[in-house]
Amino acid sequence: MLNIVLFGPPGSGKGTQAQRIIQKYELVHISTGDLLRSEVAAKTDLGMKAKAIMDRGELVSDEIVIGMIRKKLDEHKDGKGFIFDGFPRTIDQARALRNALTDIDERITVMISLDVPREELVRRLENRGREEGRSDDNLETINKRIDVYEKQTIPVTFYYEKMRKHVPVNGLGTIDQIFKRIVKVIDKFN
Ligand code: AP5
Ligand code: MG
Repeated sequence: MLNIVLFGPPGSGKGTQAQRIIQKYELVHISTGDLLRSEVAAKTDLGMKAKAIMDRGELVSDEIVIGMIRKKLDEHKDGKGFIFDGFPRTIDQARALRNALTDIDERITVMISLDVPREELVRRLENRGREEGRSDDNLETINKRIDVYEKQTIPVTFYYEKMRKHVPVNGLGTIDQIFKRIVKVIDKFN
């Protein structure tokens, strides 16, 4: 299996690039943000609880997201692999992912992190807020999300760095240019 962690701050292009990657490598895309937003849309108990946290730009509990991931892994364990988008976001999530993959005799192949400066992140997300109306794409929540990323999520890079699996990629440029950079990295590890 090819199992990729696609990492990076809010607005760095994880979702956009994941769409391209899953087409080329026939992987299953697991975005915890998308999974949470479908719970919100379906107005489940979990969704109602998550919405308030997401609108503040904070992290939903590890327990909730890990449960969602385990379910997805189990459903697709006979496929070609997974792309994890927006997960893991804490060291505990990274450990839980490792355990869950070990249970199906798998491991992470590579972690690719998209580097994009803060001004560009804010520009992209404010723009998406105007066009698509995602409720956490307002300036206050955008800044909070980036702060949370810097404090709570950056340490995850050190976890993969230790295993020599962390590869930073320049996330500035056209979507095609960035995709080509990502493909180069994947093909080296695969
Ligand atoms: P999540 O949905 O993961 O959001 P995020 O990390 O804030 O990132 P985004 O989805 O906003 O950005 P992206 O990197 O996918 O960029 P995109 O491709 O969309 O999480 C949302 C919330 O859910 C969290 O705040 C948290 O509350 C909760 N949550 C989720 N996972 C969790 C977890 N594991 N643990 C705990 N809580 C969790 O691109 C952004 C915009 O830029 C788009 O409009 C796009 O068209 C544009 N764009 C993309 N590429 C380019 C380019 N090269 N040039 C110009 N524009 C571009
Ligand atoms: Mg996304």
